[in-house]
Amino acid sequence: MIVSPSLLSANFADLKTDIEMINRSQAEWLHLDIMDGVFVPNISFGFPVLQAVAKHCTKKLDVHLMIVEPGKFINEVKALGAYMMNVHYEACPHLHRTIQQIHEAGMQAGVTLNPHTPVYVLEDIIQDVDMVLLMTVNPGFGGQKFIEHSIDKVKALKALIERTGSHALIEVDGGVNSDTAPRLAAAGTDVLVAGSYVFNAPNPEERIASLQAL
Ligand code: DX5
Ligand code: ZN
Repeated sequence: MIVSPSLLSANFADLKTDIEMINRSQAEWLHLDIMDGVFVPNISFGFPVLQAVAKHCTKKLDVHLMIVEPGKFINEVKALGAYMMNVHYEACPHLHRTIQQIHEAGMQAGVTLNPHTPVYVLEDIIQDVDMVLLMTVNPGFGGQKFIEHSIDKVKALKALIERTGSHALIEVDGGVNSDTAPRLAAAGTDVLVAGSYVFNAPNPEERIASLQAL
């Protein structure tokens, strides 16, 4: 299992210590949540902070843009050295073009679905994306309760990917813990994002290792 710890639950007054922990850990990716207070009812951190983070992080950067018009920030995300750029389906009226532009910038392209958006809307784009990020809570905050219906959604997405021969990975974000992670893995998840479960633990590296082993 690929683990992508979410920086949103890190100690913002001592980010370097948490990034060094991630670098030592078995996590392959680091998940970065950018919010604008418009697409979601919260604001997290922006590019100047992430530039500083990127300088110290040795893992692949998995950027999750919870903003309107994410296509405007492709150059900024690329400048971070990001591996994966995730844009919301609900924020992109011209998703095909945005995915193309992310690829032209040399990054992997992910499309993210809010909990109310059904998997079948991806039918005509699934061949073009490298990952689908399923929100398993409503985006905007860490530490929320997992939406149970998400397990069926992972299964439906897995079936769509297999039927179409797409190479897209399945990532889930929100409410990942020792109860939900094994069930998400069994349903077909490839990448687990985990914020509070990792950073609120006495031993975060151990939690990352337990997710990685799934
Ligand atoms: C929420 C963010 C998540 C968040 C997950 O909008 O997209 O990445 O950090 O937090 P947990 O794992 O605590 O639910
Ligand atoms: Zn996220």
